[in-house]
Amino acid sequence: MKKNFINAIKGQNTKTIPVWFMRQAGRHLPDYMKLKAKYTFREMSQTPELIKEVTLLPFKQYNLDAAIMFSDILTCLEYMGSLFEFTETGPKLENFGPNALTSLNSFNPEKDLHFVGEGLQLIKKELKGKPIIGFIGAPYTLASYILEGQGSKDFKTTRIFLKKNPKEFEKALDILAENLSKYLSFQARSGVSAIQIFDSWGGFLDLKTYTKHILPSLKKLISTFKNQHNTPVILYAQPTHHLLPALIQSGADAISVDWRKNMGDYFKEVDDLSDKKFTLQGNIDPISMTLPFEDIEEDLLSLLNSVKERDALNRFIFNVGHGLTPNTSTDTVKKVLDYVHKYR
Ligand code: CP3
Repeated sequence: MKKNFINAIKGQNTKTIPVWFMRQAGRHLPDYMKLKAKYTFREMSQTPELIKEVTLLPFKQYNLDAAIMFSDILTCLEYMGSLFEFTETGPKLENFGPNALTSLNSFNPEKDLHFVGEGLQLIKKELKGKPIIGFIGAPYTLASYILEGQGSKDFKTTRIFLKKNPKEFEKALDILAENLSKYLSFQARSGVSAIQIFDSWGGFLDLKTYTKHILPSLKKLISTFKNQHNTPVILYAQPTHHLLPALIQSGADAISVDWRKNMGDYFKEVDDLSDKKFTLQGNIDPISMTLPFEDIEEDLLSLLNSVKERDALNRFIFNVGHGLTPNTSTDTVKKVLDYVHKYR
């Protein structure tokens, strides 16, 4: 069981389908809300004991195949010069805009983010061999937060800046890639078994723009990391479908896909694009997880059957197509886990 997740990334899982959920340690868990009433996000994400506690919260009730360390993609930005707060409507950066993007500092993850390393070591002791996933935000998604100052419906400011100043944008992505590869390396040295790169807002760009201006920074980031570590890399971007030709060139071992397309069709498309048999992760609509299990059982079965029909069960990781939402039903999560684990 402990090896299924890593074996699946290698395309060699002959056993139970591994399952974990993006945002599994978040606001849908009553225990998380109790901690949130006591501590700020900054306290929780910068205190090794709390990092461990929150990371392990979902394991109290779910039979998950991997833990994802509790942190945020924005946590490292503070040390590159962009402070942020989480408000009711999401993250808000204190200094943002073109000047913030073009004046990013280099940082030292070992020193600046020592609490992440300490938290990972505490988690490792308790998980007894179950894999821990480390993560970062992709250079583009972090750059879009730095330009917008917060999330956005359409990322207009970012898209305009990229069109008007492609060289400056690429330079900032390059600096981010350099900093982030150091951070990934630190996470690998601290014991993570796999890395997920979240390019959560990458899909707002068209394929040509993404391939020309964004892909080089991802390639640099992943190859710099892979030159030093064997730790496998999963790349997530959404909306996913139109970006597949770029994502498979990034150097990642697995692609995490959204829910907007049938999982079997995602396997077909990726297999048609590449000789390498990519592992795919996904892709139930997170909204399904807010419904009673009976309402989603048919869709879940059809998702799993579509993977089986492509003969791809050995390179499949079950997950949501984007993060679990706050009104997710813990009962449905348990039943989905059980159902996927029994399927083969
Ligand atoms: O997945 C996990 O359980 C591990 C921890 C994790 C968090 N953020 C904790 C968190 C991970 C992997 C992230 C990644 C992250 N953060 C992404 C990429 C994944 C994605 O969803 O696309 C992005 C875009 C962010 C930025 C971010 N952080 C937003 C937009 C928000 C607010 C909205 C929301 O979904 O909660 C956060 C806050 C955040 N990050 C919370 C948690 C548990 C909630 C904070 C709180 O209200 O207590």
